[in-house]
Amino acid sequence: YGTTGVNNNGHLEIGGVDSLELAKNFGTPLYVYDVALIRERARGFKQAFEEQQVRAQVAYASKAFSTVAMVQLAEEEGLSLDVVSGGELYTAITAGFPAERIHFHGNNKSREELEMALEHQIGCIVIDNFHEIELLKDICSEKSTKVNILLRVTPGIEAHTHDYILTGQEDSKFGFDLQNGQAEEALAEVLPYDYFNVLGLHCHIGSQIFETTGFLLAARKIVEKMTEWKQKLAFEAEVLNLGGGFGIRYTNEDEPIPPAQYVSAIIKEVKLLIDQNSLQMPEIWIEPGRSLVGDAGITLYKIGSSKDVPEVRKYLAVDGGMSDNIRPALYQAKYEAVLANKPLAQTSDTVSIAGKCCESGDMLIWDLPLPEAGKDDLLAVFCTGAYGYSMANNYNRIPRPAVVFVENGNATLVVKRESYEDLIKLDLPLK
Ligand code: LLP
Repeated sequence: YGTTGVNNNGHLEIGGVDSLELAKNFGTPLYVYDVALIRERARGFKQAFEEQQVRAQVAYASKAFSTVAMVQLAEEEGLSLDVVSGGELYTAITAGFPAERIHFHGNNKSREELEMALEHQIGCIVIDNFHEIELLKDICSEKSTKVNILLRVTPGIEAHTHDYILTGQEDSKFGFDLQNGQAEEALAEVLPYDYFNVLGLHCHIGSQIFETTGFLLAARKIVEKMTEWKQKLAFEAEVLNLGGGFGIRYTNEDEPIPPAQYVSAIIKEVKLLIDQNSLQMPEIWIEPGRSLVGDAGITLYKIGSSKDVPEVRKYLAVDGGMSDNIRPALYQAKYEAVLANKPLAQTSDTVSIAGKCCESGDMLIWDLPLPEAGKDDLLAVFCTGAYGYSMANNYNRIPRPAVVFVENGNATLVVKRESYEDLIKLDLPLK
């Protein structure tokens, strides 16, 4: 997929660059991103909206993978940007991302974070709770600054990938509940306030979703309320943000649908509901994270030690693990991998890929079919582009890997490998 394939040397090649060269030049573990594939994914979403002829914004959920270069790539592709912390906002601003296309999320934004957002005049703040309404009112009146806001509502739908649970009162830390009157109360509170320009509503129903049903249910619930609120509060949303969560293929067990299919299903449903209720068609915003960068990322590891548990399994250990990819340990997430130095070799057995952290749970892949492999072979784990680097940590004081972008035969280092010095940079001696 993407620009990943096997070259004439029989090696895995990404973006026209031999993976063995990448490992040699930048070391391992190494996060490699196929830039062309990120562009393709971004254009896929944007074109889908263009085909439906609706006003839209596709905001990249930068929590999936936030670095200066990635933010700049999102800018190049005309995406908007979703940030959820002062750190992600700082990264975006430093990268020169247009502030008016930044949306700020989060269930506990601090005064400092909100002030920073206002100072840079970002596109909008997605208000999550009553505390935040008060805090933001306070800051806006103090600074006499007007701000665009969306209200995050909880439609009472939980998407569990394949099935959807409709709960009367959703138990979630995010947003104003749509069913129990909270959302209406919040709206009634923000609407009259002069410093707020209430653009519309936001919801996010979950992540790694493979069907359109959940999005349609959410849209239906929100539009029902919009109809009520037009009567009661004279409020008409200019923006309806339906969040992210579009699933990708990590292994054969996953069956995602193309981005355009989500978009067209959502638009059709919203248009229908809007017409039925004689509302104005809002601008539709979405916030994909994983589906923009997930399958564009590959992690290269060097294999080191191995261990046989006779008649049970064989372990192969790599030079990274839960420090650069915590998803298997945290979510039992599954991945596929090949030997980058001989991707086409006949698979001989199944092996389990262990990380190097001092923890039995630090396993990257269980029972992976692989050719005969051992010390110094290079393992390429696919689909690590989302929530890999962004959730990387220094457990066991393991430095975080470097990140390289590859495109058209060129490799560009976009995040340096952490050094031991970096690791103790913030430490202070006892005396
Ligand atoms: N918008 C909001 C408000 C979100 O909370 C999220 C993800 C997204 C958009 C992007 O969702 P995506 O398109 O990437 O599914 N660490 C987990 C995923 C947590 C997602 C949290 N929110 C993982 O590694 O699977």
